[in-house]
Amino acid sequence: MNERNFGEVILDLKGISLSFGAMRVLNNISFNVRQGEIRSIIGPNGAGKSSMLNVINGVYHPQEGEITFRGEVRKEMKVHEAAGFGIARTFQNIALFKGMSTLDNIMTGRNLKMKSSMLAQAIYWGKAQKEEIEHRKKVEEIIDFLEIQAIRKTPVGRLPYGMQKRVELGRALAAEPEILLLDEPMAGMNVEEKEDMSRFVLDINDEFGTTIVLIEHDMGVVMDISDRVVVLDYGRQLADGTPDVVRSNQDVIDAYLGVSH
Ligand SMILES: Nc1ncnc2c1ncn2[C@@H]1O[C@H](COP(=O)(O)OP(=O)(O)O)[C@@H](O)[C@H]1O
Ligand SMILES: [Mg+2]
Repeated sequence: MNERNFGEVILDLKGISLSFGAMRVLNNISFNVRQGEIRSIIGPNGAGKSSMLNVINGVYHPQEGEITFRGEVRKEMKVHEAAGFGIARTFQNIALFKGMSTLDNIMTGRNLKMKSSMLAQAIYWGKAQKEEIEHRKKVEEIIDFLEIQAIRKTPVGRLPYGMQKRVELGRALAAEPEILLLDEPMAGMNVEEKEDMSRFVLDINDEFGTTIVLIEHDMGVVMDISDRVVVLDYGRQLADGTPDVVRSNQDVIDAYLGVSH
């Protein structure tokens, strides 16, 4: 994996600091993301990993630092900007509409792509209908890709946890993202489900060229599928580099990997 060649830096985070009141959650964090890579963020619970994703997709606004996306420097990302730039995300705690079917949940991921307003739909019914058909087609492609045809009509609240995670991935994919932020997509999964999810992450990266920023606790998975890994430890940045570099970093071993991992 480490031999792969990457494109340019598309996202560059420099000196990011984020506080909530007196609590500093991110302290001078700097790393970049290159086009087409699988970039992981690891660290213990409370390290600031999810907060970092929230900075990237504009939910949190850092007090210090700079975010450069495709050459444009900004102090903070805005939620609508991030979405418009093609940054999509899944959440640590599944955020799906439990009463809605798999199909309809994935369809909600198309919202940003739907051009016709309600008024336009009323006036230009034929055009809106054509658009709807195109959206459905895209959603069906994602359902095939993720091999979830059998559960397309099932309300997601009735699905096992691992399947819900897969549906959430489908919803993020429906936005046809350039950068996909995955917050612990394998948490709570058994070995087989983790293998499936790892394969989907690799296939998304490979087949669609999607750049992936991944938060994951399973070190086997992280070291296996990541091109580069940044390590956070209670707001501090401990290390940044290839899996080999990070794995052999003494600070990382002492603070995080230890002997039990
Ligand atoms: N909106 C918020 N308000 C206050 N504290 C927050 C908020 N979001 C995160 N935190 C705090 O920031 C720290 C890092 O959290 P988080 O980014 O979720 O860590 P991780 O994902 O690495 O487990 C935690 O102490 C958490 O309680
Ligand atoms: Mg988290």
